[in-house]
Amino acid sequence: MGSYASHHLVIAIDGPAASGKSSVARQLARQLGFIYVNSGAIYRAITWHLLQNKILPDQSERINEALNSAALTCDVRDDEARIVVNDIDPAGHLRDDRVNESVSRVSKLPRVREIVSRRLHDCAEGRDVVIEGRDIGSVVFPDTPYKFYIDASPEVRLQRRAAQGERDEITIRDRDDVSRAVSPLVKAKDAHLIDTSHVTVQQVVTEIMTRLEQLGLPISDVRITNRALGE
Ligand code: DC
Repeated sequence: MGSYASHHLVIAIDGPAASGKSSVARQLARQLGFIYVNSGAIYRAITWHLLQNKILPDQSERINEALNSAALTCDVRDDEARIVVNDIDPAGHLRDDRVNESVSRVSKLPRVREIVSRRLHDCAEGRDVVIEGRDIGSVVFPDTPYKFYIDASPEVRLQRRAAQGERDEITIRDRDDVSRAVSPLVKAKDAHLIDTSHVTVQQVVTEIMTRLEQLGLPISDVRITNRALGE
């Protein structure tokens, strides 16, 4: 095993909604043999759980109570981390309109952010991971040297959401995500910026791989080791 294997790696992929970060993070994880973690899905799972219990994003007392009694666990299946809430996997509901509408307001709450950060550290425990989100490189894993900030023009991002057939007010979510007091969406100083407006997913992944090698990550050793561990 290469020397890198003595500790586990976190690759942070941050950026706004519909910037292409999910496709890039998933493909990068597959190519490296890392576990893919979508932190937005954890905020969405919590939002879904609250809405199921008829709790609104502005009822912070009720939210704290509901979260104190909910069992949120990180479950890794098919090389992907999922959040299970009280033994239910809400994967099929995470992009419901009502979740899209409320998730930014729920993710503003410091208690919610603290819980998600803890779950992300659980997901990364003992594994090499690619984590996508808004504050992974800036707040959740500030010590990782592998940070990327993925962006695209507002027009391209709107077109991408429309092409996915989703009703998602990304302009409103962007404003909320950038302006919130706790862990706003921000490019970490040491993150490598990539504009995906006019390039393919594979071109972005290749640029990230090149950058990782420049940062001293032995890509082929990483791949071989993770493949052996997965067998
Ligand atoms: O990536 P996404 O669009 O599925 O994220 C949904 C929401 O979750 C997003 O509007 C803000 C919040 N989020 C966050 O605050 N911090 C993260 N690391 C990831 C997502």
